[in-house]
Formats: sequence, C-alpha cells, structure tokens
Amino acid sequence: MIRLQLFHNFLLYIYNIFVGQIKATRNTLFWSVMTGADPIVLSLAVPLATATVIATLLVSIFWIYGRKNGADSKLPPGDKGWPIVGSTFSLFKPHPATTLGDFLHLQLSRYGKIFSTRYLGKTLVISADPDFNRFVLQNEMRLFQNDLPPHFKKILGEGNLPFMAGETYRNMKSLALGFFNSWQIQTRFLAEVEEAANRVMNSWRQKSVILANEELSKFFFSLAVEKVIGMTPDDPEVEELRKAFIAANNGLYTVPLSLPFTPYSKALKARDFIYSIVKREAEDRKLNSDKMDQKKNDLILYYLKNNPSMSMKNICDAVIGSIFAALFNTQISVALAMYFLGQCPKSLQQLREEFKQKIKYTDTTAKLTWDDYKNMEFCQSVINETLRFGNIIPGLWRKTLSDVNFKGYTMPQGTTIMTHIAAMHLDSSAFENPNIFDPWRWLAMEKSNNWMPFGGGVRHCSGSEIARMEIAVFLRHLVLNYDWELVEHDQPVAFPFITFPKGLPIRIHPLGEKTP
Ligand code: HEM
Repeated sequence: MIRLQLFHNFLLYIYNIFVGQIKATRNTLFWSVMTGADPIVLSLAVPLATATVIATLLVSIFWIYGRKNGADSKLPPGDKGWPIVGSTFSLFKPHPATTLGDFLHLQLSRYGKIFSTRYLGKTLVISADPDFNRFVLQNEMRLFQNDLPPHFKKILGEGNLPFMAGETYRNMKSLALGFFNSWQIQTRFLAEVEEAANRVMNSWRQKSVILANEELSKFFFSLAVEKVIGMTPDDPEVEELRKAFIAANNGLYTVPLSLPFTPYSKALKARDFIYSIVKREAEDRKLNSDKMDQKKNDLILYYLKNNPSMSMKNICDAVIGSIFAALFNTQISVALAMYFLGQCPKSLQQLREEFKQKIKYTDTTAKLTWDDYKNMEFCQSVINETLRFGNIIPGLWRKTLSDVNFKGYTMPQGTTIMTHIAAMHLDSSAFENPNIFDPWRWLAMEKSNNWMPFGGGVRHCSGSEIARMEIAVFLRHLVLNYDWELVEHDQPVAFPFITFPKGLPIRIHPLGEKTP
C-alpha cells in the first residue's frame, strides 16, 4: 500500500512539474518584466531545477520498481518489468491466438501458474490456475469485482451488466437470462437462424471469393438487431448501425484520447448514433406496445413489459450491451471454426457425415429441431474445441475488494487479477497436445475444469446457449452447401481481441446439394 501511495504521489509530482513547466515557460516574459531579472537566467532556472528533481525521482523509481516483488509482500512471484509501464507492452504484444505469446509463456515457465507483474503502474496478478480462477469468478461481488477500463463504460453505457453490482445487477441479470434462456425464445430463434443462414448461403451462389469475417459480421449483426431491436435485414439503417458498432468496438481497445479523428473519439460519436437509434425504437415501442406484431417482440419490448420501472437510459444501455456481447464473440467463433475445419479436412468430413446421416429428414421442408441440434454430438465437439483453441476471450479482469489469501499468497485490496482463460485452455497438463485442433478429444472427455470460454460464477455468459446454437446452425448450412479454402495466408491474432488481419479471404465451392 505504501508503495502504491508513493507511486501515486510520484505521478502527481511529475504531472505538476510538467504542467508547471509549461506555465513557467509561458510566464517567463511576464516575470522578467515584473521583476526586472534577465529573461535568459529566468528561463534556465526552472528547467535546471526540474531536471534535478526528475533525476532524483528516477533513482527513487528504480528503487521502488526495480526489485522483484517477493521481498515486500506475499504476492505471487514475478517480474515487474519496466518502471511505470511494467509489462504492459509485452502483455499486449500481438501473437497468434492459438498460442500464449512469448511473455506469458516465459512467465509461466519461470514462476508457475500464478505470477505477478505490473501493468500501467498497477500490480497485476495473472493466473492460469483453474482452482484460483474458479475461486475468483465464484467470489464476484464478495472478494472480487469486475475491473474494466473506465472508458469502456462511456462506450458501452453504464446501464450494462458488466458495470452493475449488488441487487440491481441480480435483478437485471435474471431478467436478461429470462429472455435469452427461455425455451420459447430458443426454439423460435432456431428457426430464424436457419432462415437467415439460408439467405446468406444463397447470396454466396454468385460469388467465388468472400471475406468471411465481413460476411459473418453482416449475418450475426442482422440476427442480433432483429432479436434485440426488431429491425429486419432489409431496413436501410441496419448497415449504418453495423458500421457504428464496429467503430464503437474499435474504440474499446485504444488509448482513450478524445481528440478529433482518434479511434476513441470516433467510437464516442458512433455510440451517440447507436444510442439515438435505439432510443427512438424504445420510445416507439413504449407508445405502441399493445399494437406490436410478433416480429417486434424483441428485447426492448421484453424489458418494457417485465420491468416497467426501468429507465429509458438503462433499457437503451442494456440493449446496446447485448448486441455488443452477441455480435463480436459469435462472429469470431464461426470464423475460427471455418479456419480450423479448413485446416483439418478429416474433421470437416466427419462433421459433414454427421449432418447428413444423424439427422433424418422425412421431406425437404423439414426443419432442424432443438433435439436434432442437441444430438449433433460431433458438431458440439467442434464448437467446444474451437472455443478452447481459438481463445475468443483470452482473460477476464477482476479487482480484489479486500486482502485475499490463496495458496499461501496474499493479494492486497485493489490488486488487479487476470484470470487467464487462454492459459488454462492451452495447458498441456489438462489437454493432451493442446496446440492441435482435435475435436475428437471432446467425445472421450467430460467437460474439463480448465475449459471456461463463457466465464464462470454469477457473471457466466447470459448468451452461451444461444451462441452455441447459432454457431451450430450456421456451420450446418455452410458444411452441407460449401467447401472452402483460404485464398491467401491469414491466421487468428490476439490483438488483444481476436482478429483475422486479412479478414479471412476464402474461395467457396458450392457442393450442389441443398440443405433441407
Ligand atoms: C461464442 C460466443 C460468446 C462467448 C465466447 C462469450 C463469452 C462471454 C464471457 C467469457 C463472459 C463473462 C465476462 C466476465 O465474466 O467478465 C460473457 C458475458 C456475457 N455475455 Fe457472452 N459470450 C458469447 C456470446 C454471447 C451472446 C450471443 C450473448 C447474448 C445473446 C452474450 C451475452 C453476454 C452478457 C450479457 C454477458 C454479461 C454477463 C454478466 O456480466 O453477468 N454472450 N460472455
């Protein structure tokens, strides 16, 4: 705590010096006129004094940060990295999504599954230990709380589940689960996803090369906006809205500098646009709730009916948050599945066989049922393995609410914890040959303690079942209708969110068979 205080004071001191320096330079002329002193002497005095103070402080910083942290507390062992920035750059260095990157790999081999480092001037404990990670997620709001950067709130909106706690959180979460997990929604939604997948696949018939990422983004966005704000894909505003969501998402992972043309200021502008559309739709629903047809039986209407006291701002934030959560994670999961299946023809073949044989259709108009979907055993294994190997959300950030003791370590109040999901997914003591895409491992294995793609504890993903169903339905239509191959080299990169730098360009070959 004392060192944190020292660090805080130091930052304030440096800030004051720099602000003071700027003011002093600006005022040199003024003081020379007022005092009659030589302006050159005056202008040298301040920088000299500043340089002396900075030199003294730099020595102090190396004293404060230069040592390994084992000596001063019972924090897990680890390297603090560079003064002030700590390991920030190493931690966020882009690396293939199916690996841990050099930094994490090295730290885990040096210090074990729980280690500490520094990130933006703060202590950061990183854990690949499934027991500790479960302990952290299951003690949310008791010993730990969500620790997202403050600018996330400005883009996503504060009336969003990740920023809520206590009773308000519990009420909103059970409301959200009531919508996403109701059997009625899931079965009706299954038919809608099938219809949409058919539409997309048909539109590909005239194309030979597609940018899979872009196509998937359009597909999942149209599904999300229809379910959540009742907009149909032919609505001209949908594409504008999708682009705004992409701009807003880009702002989450940049330095939050609100200067003209920075990604952050573009994200804030995009957020305002999104908010204005969602608010307009919500107000319209409020005025006409009794006249709404089935199509518009969306999340907005659900909130209005089931929680009449909810403010318009909270409805809009919750709705916007759901689209964020639904869109980017599901889209990248399917892109990853396409990439992995494309590299493993044996798994693609087996998946195709399962889709063809296991599900018997009496006539060509038969639709996939919830039971069919649940019986697609190999497909479920492909999804599990994609979520393990692709590491869509590499880590979850939490903060200790009080001093926390675990396995002999003490993490003081305010320590940032990263439960590293990717490190658990790529752990060779839990998964044999973890660096190989092997869906068959899931046929022989009960769910692993190390597998947590949807998080855990109270904050477990509200849309996990819907996401799995969407992925399965899309894959089924894709695999039965098309073969595909990469046009040029591309691979998933952790940046820190997972992306395909070239957008996953693929050549598609229709198989000449129609999905029932
Ligand atoms: C494969 C796709 C998906 C993955 C990998 C995924 C993963 C996750 C993870 C790891 C969390 C926990 C975050 C934390 O603890 O800090 C989470 C939370 C959440 N997810 Fe998902 N998600 C996916 C799809 C979806 C979909 C389709 C929806 C909505 C329909 C959704 C809605 C949510 C919501 C609302 C939360 C916040 C829960 C809370 O704070 O209590 N997710 N998701």
